[in-house]
Amino acid sequence: MADIKPEVMRKEKYLNWNIQEKLTSGKKVTVCLLKADDRELLSDFFESVPEDDQYYFYPHPLDKENAKRLVDRSTLDKNIRIVAISRLKGKDKIAGYIYAELISQDLYSYGICIRREFQSEGLGGKLTRHLLNTCKETGVRKIQLTVHKTNKRAIKIYRKYGFKITGEFLNKRQNVVQHKMLLKL
Ligand SMILES: CC(C)(COP(=O)(O)OP(=O)(O)OC[C@H]1O[C@@H](n2cnc3c(N)ncnc32)[C@H](O)[C@@H]1OP(=O)(O)O)[C@@H](O)C(=O)NCCC(=O)NCCS
Repeated sequence: MADIKPEVMRKEKYLNWNIQEKLTSGKKVTVCLLKADDRELLSDFFESVPEDDQYYFYPHPLDKENAKRLVDRSTLDKNIRIVAISRLKGKDKIAGYIYAELISQDLYSYGICIRREFQSEGLGGKLTRHLLNTCKETGVRKIQLTVHKTNKRAIKIYRKYGFKITGEFLNKRQNVVQHKMLLKL
């Protein structure tokens, strides 16, 4: 599997991937890759992230332009973006979003955000499992992330899936020192 390029892997195997998951609350979600027609869904999701959560999750401004940029490139670039879709007040919504972005030949950077209404129901762990299983097939062997030291819920997931603290990172935007974590697949 080691020589399969991410873009080849995604097109051939994962593009029509739909996995049903049940959360601890009983809510159901469908886990799939972010697709070219998910622009509105991702934009709506970014807008829904409250300030408290933006303190922890802010890979870029959470605006329409970035939603468009990510969705337009979703089937072209080597990054893996997975969403969990669920019904909320009669409409399809992104309940959770997770990604692995290739930042060098053998290294992914990881990010995750769960919609408020779906937090602490096991979705973060489930999406992490799906992302890591997908990453394993790309041949990219390392995944890194940074996390606020106070984000206990996130750190619990990362440790459970084998990430180890490797150092510290100064988050200049917030002037706060975070953990750097790394997983070797
Ligand atoms: C952090 C986040 C990704 C976790 O996802 P989640 O779906 O809410 O979390 P889960 O329900 O999967 O729970 C993860 C673990 O934390 C535990 N947990 C749940 N709620 C908790 C709480 N309020 N306090 C402490 N631990 C908690 C769970 O028991 C679980 O551990 P377990 O697998 O051993 O049972 C999600 O809450 C989120 O998106 N927060 C805002 C943005 C953010 O912090 N992103 C991460 C940036 S690094």
